Amino acid sequence: MKTKGAVGRIYGEATSTEFNFVVFDPREVRRTDYVKVWNDVEGWVIAQVLEVKATADLSGADVLEGRDAERELCIAKATVIGRRDDEGMLRVPKTPFVPGESVFKAEEDFIIDVLGLKREGAYIGFLQDTDIKVKLDVNSLVQKHCCILAKTGSGKSYTAGVIVEELLEMDVPLLIIDPHGEYSSLKYPNDDEFDLEKMKYFGVRPKGYDNVLVYVPPGSPFAEIADGVLKLDGKNLSAEELIELAGITGNSSQALVYQAVKNLKKRGSYTVEDVISEVEGIKHNAKWTVLGSLEKIAEVGLFDDSPTPVQLLLQKGKAVVLDMRGIPPEHQDLIVSKICNELFELRKLGEVPPGMIVLEEAHNFIPERGFGKSVSTSVLRTIASEGRKFGLGLMVISQRPARVDKNVISQCNTQIILRVTNPNDINAIKKGVEGITAEMVDEIKRLPPGTAMVVSPELEKPVIVEVRVRRSRHGGVAVSVVEGSVENKPKRSLWRKSKRDSGDESEKAEKAETGKRKILKTRVKSRAKPEELKEVKPKGESEEPGEVESEKLENKKSENKKTSGKRNILRKMFGV
Ligand SMILES: Nc1ncnc2c1ncn2[C@@H]1O[C@H](COP(=O)(O)OP(=O)(O)O)[C@@H](O)[C@H]1O
Ligand SMILES: [Mg+2]
Repeated sequence: MKTKGAVGRIYGEATSTEFNFVVFDPREVRRTDYVKVWNDVEGWVIAQVLEVKATADLSGADVLEGRDAERELCIAKATVIGRRDDEGMLRVPKTPFVPGESVFKAEEDFIIDVLGLKREGAYIGFLQDTDIKVKLDVNSLVQKHCCILAKTGSGKSYTAGVIVEELLEMDVPLLIIDPHGEYSSLKYPNDDEFDLEKMKYFGVRPKGYDNVLVYVPPGSPFAEIADGVLKLDGKNLSAEELIELAGITGNSSQALVYQAVKNLKKRGSYTVEDVISEVEGIKHNAKWTVLGSLEKIAEVGLFDDSPTPVQLLLQKGKAVVLDMRGIPPEHQDLIVSKICNELFELRKLGEVPPGMIVLEEAHNFIPERGFGKSVSTSVLRTIASEGRKFGLGLMVISQRPARVDKNVISQCNTQIILRVTNPNDINAIKKGVEGITAEMVDEIKRLPPGTAMVVSPELEKPVIVEVRVRRSRHGGVAVSVVEGSVENKPKRSLWRKSKRDSGDESEKAEKAETGKRKILKTRVKSRAKPEELKEVKPKGESEEPGEVESEKLENKKSENKKTSGKRNILRKMFGV
């Protein structure tokens, strides 16, 4: 006999941490769902469904002979999370669950409590398949760093945009290092038709942020539309910075620069001209090539006698976007190195408020050993390890987790992982994310676009989040070189009725009308352009050639699957 409200009943062997249960209605229990069950010692506890299996009393021969099953059984495997005691500590049962005990859907408040979700904080979306808003603790997010990792097109920049919006709402000062010019669109309200459709579901409204300032480096093709040009102070460049900027190769040439800088440092502040005269004074055959290269630094035009005060880059209630489109990578690297060094120093002195540096394409600035060198690495590593002491946080974003310094990734308290499939990147995540299990890794490979796994020590378990729609416009849309391709944009984000939504049409319509989110599930479809349209791919977005091909194929396959799934849903709904 079924207990009222129960979705299943425990059967077979059960331990204190795991049990299997027979599912009464397969539409009601799905993988990753939260259920509650009674434990004789602890009382009600929460468990999460790891897998749901269907079996039937059919042998291979039965199937071949076309016989139908008489009995079908759906069995779910659940792992126990526990309950909170009066002191708020998580308690995991030590006595086994009793076979025959009923399994129920867990109430939202109970889930929030046991998982350790916050009721206040940065709202990033819904806990998958629920109405529960996932809010991240802002202090921990900012001060203790966070990372967003996923393959291209999974929604990293979009998710970063969502977090930036939340931080802007809370007046957190932000500096956004933006190699592809994706973040200046924060200034404008989101007007994407598909996104607009989902706003009610997520409970947000379109909004442009007028407290966003866009700066560009000198020489940027976008200087005219920017709010300001960032002029750097050319004083006291480190030997590494000079070497990178001047493109000096060869050990003896580089040694000359180190020598000159070492001499100058003893005397205090120095300019590039001082370095040049210092090198001139050194007796060495290599000095002429070095001098030639150093002379070129002035031509770069990055430096100015009246530099932009770095304080402007981190201001209360403002986000400064440093749009580096069209700037050579070695200049980007130097710019990041210089401003981060200065900001960190100013922060230590309390001359800029506590805030966060958002770093897109982080693998270019903090590469893992063996994946290139970068002059900004050292300061970024320092911020990752010491920033929290001084209130300077990092948001590290990358599509190549394997190529980002693992130490930096493991310093990130909040880790947001969207879909990753590349085995090297998966391995990097296994190394950088503490306590990650094989099941979680499988889950990461399957995440649909716009869906993230959030891992944080403040959460009892990693949670899967349907990332909310953005209030402001997302700027990360690839540019097509073929005119008119915007019209060719494939339709995105159809409302998908979930399997749970099996009621009659009028009930469905009514539920949709009243905005009952539970029965609706969004599907975020990548805005990828059709294959035949060539895209301008921003530098750094590229992956190994083999990988790109296989990803394309994979996308195509999943796209086909999605379309046929969509067709089936439509068929069911309208009987076509
Ligand atoms: N949470 C989301 N809601 C709606 N659309 C999304 C979401 N996440 C991603 N997208 C869509 O997917 C596309 C790719 O996301 P983007 O963040 O630019 O990818 P990347 O991981 O390469 O930075 C976006 O242009 C957007 O249309
Ligand atoms: Mg991106």
